[in-house]
Amino acid sequence: MKPVLGLALILAVAAGAAAAAPPQPDYHPSMGDLMTMAVQPRHTKLAYAGQARNWAYAAYEADELRHAFDRIAKTIPVYRDNDIAGAAQQNMKAPLDAIDAAIKARNPAAFSLAYGKVTKGCNACHQNLSHREIVIRSPTSGAYPDQDFAPHPAK
Ligand code: HEC
Repeated sequence: MKPVLGLALILAVAAGAAAAAPPQPDYHPSMGDLMTMAVQPRHTKLAYAGQARNWAYAAYEADELRHAFDRIAKTIPVYRDNDIAGAAQQNMKAPLDAIDAAIKARNPAAFSLAYGKVTKGCNACHQNLSHREIVIRSPTSGAYPDQDFAPHPAK
């Protein structure tokens, strides 16, 4: 192939690719972004699910919360020299296992106890990673007025 023809071909292919898949914005969420969008709302909603004895939804939200930490560890594997997968495992695994067990048993008292452990795990990680100023607690008033947390029978 002649060089000029080769170049024309490359340009044509590149133009085609650009038209087919416009480049995505290069957004890199920070740890604070991920906590705010993937972790905090799920921690809040998990409390409402337990208060409403909505075990199906509580199971869904506990699973979302657990996997949010997996995804965060993939997105930010190291935060200020700390291994995030290890820190999440250390602070969240046992509490989330306890939440799962309480949900399976449909046991409100066990759920409250386990929820307290989850919240303790949040704060332990914040303290270990030099963020004592970020203090999590059980939600004391309602948020998400557009979501019904009452159980709904499966169809
Ligand atoms: C693996 C460690 C770890 C765990 C576990 C963890 N966090 Fe965080 N969280 C962090 C770090 C680190 C920051 C500070 C990020 C930064 O640099 O802004 C943070 C920040 C936050 C913030 C501050 C965001 C803001 O703008 O106010 C909130 C809220 C938060 N976490 C909620 C939670 C909740 C709720 C849990 C438990 C369900 C939790 N976190 C568990 C590490 C963790």
